[in-house]
Amino acid sequence: MSKAKVTPWEVKGVVDYERLIEEFGTNHLTEPLIKKIEKAAKKSHHMLRRKIFFSHRDLEIFLKEHEEGKSVALYTGRGPSGNTHLGHIVPWIFCKYLQDALDIPLYFQITDDEKFLCKDLTLEETNKLAYENALDFIAMGFDPKKTFIFVDTDYAKTMYKIAIKVAKKVTASSAQAVFGFDNSTNIGMYFWPAMQSATCFLPTVHQKKPTRTLIPAAIDQDPYWRIARDVAPKLGYPKTAAIHCTFLPSLLGPEGKMSTSEGSHATIFTTDTPDEVKKKINKYAFSGGKDTLEEHRKHGGNPAIDAAYQWLTFFEEDDKKLKSIRDNYKSGKLLSGELKAILIEKVNAFLKVHQKKRELARKHIDKFILKD
Ligand code: TYM
Repeated sequence: MSKAKVTPWEVKGVVDYERLIEEFGTNHLTEPLIKKIEKAAKKSHHMLRRKIFFSHRDLEIFLKEHEEGKSVALYTGRGPSGNTHLGHIVPWIFCKYLQDALDIPLYFQITDDEKFLCKDLTLEETNKLAYENALDFIAMGFDPKKTFIFVDTDYAKTMYKIAIKVAKKVTASSAQAVFGFDNSTNIGMYFWPAMQSATCFLPTVHQKKPTRTLIPAAIDQDPYWRIARDVAPKLGYPKTAAIHCTFLPSLLGPEGKMSTSEGSHATIFTTDTPDEVKKKINKYAFSGGKDTLEEHRKHGGNPAIDAAYQWLTFFEEDDKKLKSIRDNYKSGKLLSGELKAILIEKVNAFLKVHQKKRELARKHIDKFILKD
């Protein structure tokens, strides 16, 4: 198998998460640690039970500080290059669990500057998309008193002061090594990692006391946390902690991730209609079923490569229901089309509620937004 490529901007090939833990130098999310989170949260979460969150940095220290009543916060973000898709909300579902459980502030960075610098989009476009993406985040149900959302170019006065401190400690050669930049990369991108890393320290500035952050995000964002953790002691900030999830796979098959850039015809957006969802899943979801009905009934399907089943591991919270779907699919009792129908219903039920909350969020967005 050729080596998969995982960077903050692109995921190619079949991702070997064990290898990423080694390559990135992160730690396994072990059973005792999962128990610790569940104990602090006083409830379990299917994304922990199923190892969708599978890796971390300094989570023990973060949980200990929370237990001791020290100031801690959550941090996550979004790069507004298009509408929000279902992959983006995976870390947000987990943030909601953690904020409810730990009762702590949550900072959400929307990077209109990053997407302007690295995509063929105008700043006006990325800024507009930023506020549309914010609606999806708010729709997840976060506490307005404890949730701080900002769009980079509209919070630049505060962010720039932290970011230049970070930037002074990061050389061009280290940015090249970590992010693969070269001589043809625009200089805005060379500065950009300082902005994403700076948010690790924003809670300390905003709360006016040392505040360690925990970042729930997919593993693709980890290179930024390496930079942030490297500079933190030099700047007198607590080192950021992180908890990493796997990627919601592309509907098209086990390679890559659900993304807007590749295979966007098969991407499910939070703004899709029930009919669009149905058509995309029926047409594109890679099937682990057999070629003929007879063969399928005899040998059963393969859930490990079936996109509809894999998606249900992210979105069907009920372990018993999921197990029965898996067993029936493996035995051949459940057909590929029937499995897709289960996913379509699940996604559409979620989107029906989400889209209502998303529209309501337009009225309340000001309660969440930080501006200078
Ligand atoms: P962006 O917009 O590419 O992604 C937003 C969040 O979604 C995660 N993600 C996925 N998770 C599971 N399955 C997928 N298929 C999938 N695709 C994307 C990403 O890991 C991320 O958590 N530069 C960032 C914006 C940012 C940020 C942050 C993200 C700024 N600060 C802090 C996370 C944490 C970006 O472009 O994310």
